[in-house]
Amino acid sequence: MRLTDEEKRMLNGQEGEAKKLAMEILTQVGDSMDADSFVEIASVQAMAHFGSLHIAGRDWLEKLACLGGKCCVPTTQDPASIPFSHWKEMGYDEEYAKNQYRLAEAIMKLGEMPKWSCTPYYQGSVPRLGQNIAWAESSAVSFANSVLGARTNRTPAGIAICAALTGRMPRYGLYLTENRRAQIKITVEAGELTPLDYNTIGIITGKLAGAKIPAIYGLPQSATNDDLKYLGASAASSGSVALYHADGITPEAILTDVFAGKAPEEEMVITRKDIDDAAEKMTSTGAGEPKLAVVGCPHYSSEEVIRLARMIEGKKVADGKAFWVFTTAETESLMERMGLKAVLEEAGVRIMAQTCLVISPLVGGYENLITDSGKFASYLPSEHSIRIRYASAEECVKAVTR
Ligand code: F3S
Repeated sequence: MRLTDEEKRMLNGQEGEAKKLAMEILTQVGDSMDADSFVEIASVQAMAHFGSLHIAGRDWLEKLACLGGKCCVPTTQDPASIPFSHWKEMGYDEEYAKNQYRLAEAIMKLGEMPKWSCTPYYQGSVPRLGQNIAWAESSAVSFANSVLGARTNRTPAGIAICAALTGRMPRYGLYLTENRRAQIKITVEAGELTPLDYNTIGIITGKLAGAKIPAIYGLPQSATNDDLKYLGASAASSGSVALYHADGITPEAILTDVFAGKAPEEEMVITRKDIDDAAEKMTSTGAGEPKLAVVGCPHYSSEEVIRLARMIEGKKVADGKAFWVFTTAETESLMERMGLKAVLEEAGVRIMAQTCLVISPLVGGYENLITDSGKFASYLPSEHSIRIRYASAEECVKAVTR
């Protein structure tokens, strides 16, 4: 790889041991990916949750912190593996929580911003069209690439921190314009779409596309950022879609010919029937009456939590049942200022800020859950050996309240 003088200084150890180690790893990644040089990156979405990093990941971050590593670009991270404010009361294992706290301490030493969310784009980390970034977490990667038009690969957790310490990533994959071209064409012909439909379209798209880049036609201009968030998260969970283009909606589809003058490799149509059939299949076989509703995967936006509060006001979560909403600390604080946190709590809804059920233990012995998220529905049954009912947010409220 061609290195600039600054990159050579980092690699030679002139800028400290942590940068040296990070640069050694990044050059090896670059060599293995046939990268000719590095790109400068504007931000990093890292990972520091014990549920995926385990002891080895914890030790890695602690080592870099001990070596004096400091992030040189704004760095956020995925949700934590415990709800910091009430893990004890909810019965999380103490040893497990201690490990999560050690990771929290390490990222503070490294200079990360403790946002603990998979929606950094709702928390002020908003890369521009064409800007290079190094984000981990498949749904955030999809949103950044597709909706914002920024450029990132699905950065592995151990590499993301190296990018944060050096401000560099090897130039390969989706950093290159020629690799962002759409390969398959998917047309949605399904009439009006609900938020659940966007999740389901994502699930179908992921299965059709695998790791290819789809261009999706037929989505309405009224698609919200939350709708596109769900589409991308679901497509990244049923396939490994890191970038999709949506005709007339996403920036690269507006500004360029996403097929770059070539014909699509394949063309498919998603009909209303396809969506309804796929949605039905998302519910686990033998799913019983749900005792727990879980929403907020990816993290619920402020608008979604406000909508939930209005939906649930005056109702009460039934005895023996629970409702958890996963969201950011910023949204929780906004809800408090709007007087809506009290509405949610009065109804019996638990705000699970800065955490996520896929990457943390499921406490409470629940066996049947209901969710409005395609990604939760894809992962939770195997992560926690439970059965899922897949339905709208309104159905989630109905299922566990009286
Ligand atoms: Fe976020 Fe966890 Fe879902 S990280 S996208 S809430 S699986």
